[in-house]
Amino acid sequence: MYKKIVVLTGAGISAESGLGTFRGQGGLWEGHRVEDVATPQAFERDPALVQEFYNARRKQLLEDVHPNDAHLFLAEFEDTFTENGGEFLLVTQNIDDLHSRAGSHNLIHMHGELLKSRCSTSGKIRECQQDLTGTDWRPHIVWFGEMPLEMERIYRAIEQCDLFVAIGTSGHVYPAAGFVELAMNTCSHTVEINLETSAASSRFHEQIIGPATVSVTDYFSKLLP
Ligand code: APR
Repeated sequence: MYKKIVVLTGAGISAESGLGTFRGQGGLWEGHRVEDVATPQAFERDPALVQEFYNARRKQLLEDVHPNDAHLFLAEFEDTFTENGGEFLLVTQNIDDLHSRAGSHNLIHMHGELLKSRCSTSGKIRECQQDLTGTDWRPHIVWFGEMPLEMERIYRAIEQCDLFVAIGTSGHVYPAAGFVELAMNTCSHTVEINLETSAASSRFHEQIIGPATVSVTDYFSKLLP
């Protein structure tokens, strides 16, 4: 029985909620090169384009999108697991709020949050459900070339965990793609849940292939007491 679990999620866990993944067909970046919308240089060069891009993502998230069974089961699992004395940390690369809406508590958004904005001068962060314009407030998103959030807390938890599970992430973007190596080095069991074999699959002890809504529930329900 595991005592300390770290779960990493990527775009694949929100795919069945209707949000496009980044590198799949019809992905979020279709029609936009990453460097045109998701870098600090893009924001300097063409703030209106970047703001419009994230305004559209935010609108979609607020209007059409709901947590799916994978988000919901992870939240339920966290409650039962921690009630029984376990430690559970959910690290997501996703900027949507579906894990929070599903009821997850110990959650780190390492790439920021679509429903928050950040003051470009003071760094102050506030809730944001409306469109942004201009450059005073930027989306609270970690863009390419910027430092992901709460890395020390994440590394500490991975070093101490005895189970590391990555769900719906392609393993292309570091530092998250390197978490499995750290978990391996510290003797945890490592599991990948993905719709298909990913760039990182061979680095995990165990691989489960299938849609997150089914695989997450199947896998985590077996870990409950
Ligand atoms: N169930 C499980 N896995 C799925 C599903 C599903 N229903 N649908 C897709 N996947 C898998 C794909 O096979 C792919 O391996 O999810 C993965 C999504 O990969 P990416 O689109 O690359 O997303 P992610 O790994 O989260 O990207 C990491 O890159 O662009 C940046 O900052 C952005 O956080 C993002 C980071």
